Amino acid sequence: MKKTILITGGAGFIGSHVVRRFVNNYPGYLVVNADKLTYAGNLENLTDIDTKKNYLFEKIDIVDKQSVLDLFKKYSFDGIIHLAAESHVDRSITGPDEFVFTNIVGTVNLLNAALNSWKNAPEGKLFYHISTDEVYGSLGKEGLFTEQTAYDPKSPYSASKASSDHMVRAYNHTFGIPVVISNCSNNYGPNQFPEKLIPLAINNIKNNKPIPVYGKGENIRDWLYVEDHASAIDLIFHHGKVGETYNIGGNNEWKNIDLILLLCRIMDKKINQSAGTSEKLITYVKDRPGHDLRYAIDSSKLQKELGWSPIPEFADGLEKTVEWYLTNLKWLERVLSGDYGKYYDFMYSGK
Ligand code: NAD
Ligand code: DAU
Repeated sequence: MKKTILITGGAGFIGSHVVRRFVNNYPGYLVVNADKLTYAGNLENLTDIDTKKNYLFEKIDIVDKQSVLDLFKKYSFDGIIHLAAESHVDRSITGPDEFVFTNIVGTVNLLNAALNSWKNAPEGKLFYHISTDEVYGSLGKEGLFTEQTAYDPKSPYSASKASSDHMVRAYNHTFGIPVVISNCSNNYGPNQFPEKLIPLAINNIKNNKPIPVYGKGENIRDWLYVEDHASAIDLIFHHGKVGETYNIGGNNEWKNIDLILLLCRIMDKKINQSAGTSEKLITYVKDRPGHDLRYAIDSSKLQKELGWSPIPEFADGLEKTVEWYLTNLKWLERVLSGDYGKYYDFMYSGK
């Protein structure tokens, strides 16, 4: 059965893994990747699949209502997997506005377009909203976020994601749009923009630069390999129950400083340095304002109901990630210099 699926934010870190999975695993689907190509969107993440017949790219800003409506006139979408967002907490502190525009207004524009396009036949359609565990706020030393945990976002990023989750649920409740939401913990793996902790540390160690650790390094995150997130998204998209929320997490909590120490040991081995060399680069810096102490996810609903489980052990996943960055130094260089932006002109504008 032929289906047309819209994936927003498909040129970003997680989106590119989701696009690749859907293009390769579902040749009967036409996958339309709609992305504005902000600093975080990189079409070089998709060079292995971008000439496949079941893949199309559309450069779209979801904040621009008319462009979104035009996109929905051009295609008749059966399903939407919505990942496009401003995603970096530190940027939401220095400039919250863009987070309100893209994460809230952009999501509402997509909901309105879906509502308009599906109003006479919503059966079998699905609006799948990809969200974050940060909407639940910060945990103390004990406990896990479940799907019943009350929302308590603390940063402009998490507040904008929480708002978008509420709008998605409201459109389901009020207008009957078939929706599903998942809230995931911290992802790591290939193609992550080097502003996030793990790729930033890998890049800095490689270049013998300080590794900035916020505060005392005691904040805790629950890390998940990005392909495990993509496999969960695939399962939820195909088998999730309409109207439900699923938490996704690695059951893999690490204090930031312990994670950095493990990463330093892996890097020393991989770049043939004597043990302890990378560790010397650790530099404690001013804490992130309002820094959430701990996130940890209970993903038992997803495991029991849909049979999902994450695959690599953290040390293996981290080693695979380090290997990817070290064998893709050109990718890293082009991302840091901004040269990756030229790929769009080359591929899609004939320039
Ligand atoms: P990312 O920043 O790497 O990618 C975001 C993508 O969205 C980019 O390709 C960017 O160009 C695109 N985009 C941004 N603004 C846009 C706009 N106005 N119109 C169209 N496209 C736009 O983000 P990521 O880390 O891959 O996260 C993807 C999604 O998953 C986000 O919704 C994020 O909230 C969620 N999430 C991320 C994590 C994580 O650990 N990275 C964890 C849980 C949930
Ligand atoms: O929990 C899911 C969220 O995880 C996603 O929704 C976000 O999009 C994603 O960016 C991520 O948010 P974090 O703020 O947890 O990720 P980040 O990599 O920025 O930081 C991880 C931890 O490391 C956090 O406690 C802050 C700390 N940190 C971060 C950076 C960039 C440092 O100590 N030093 C740094 O230089």
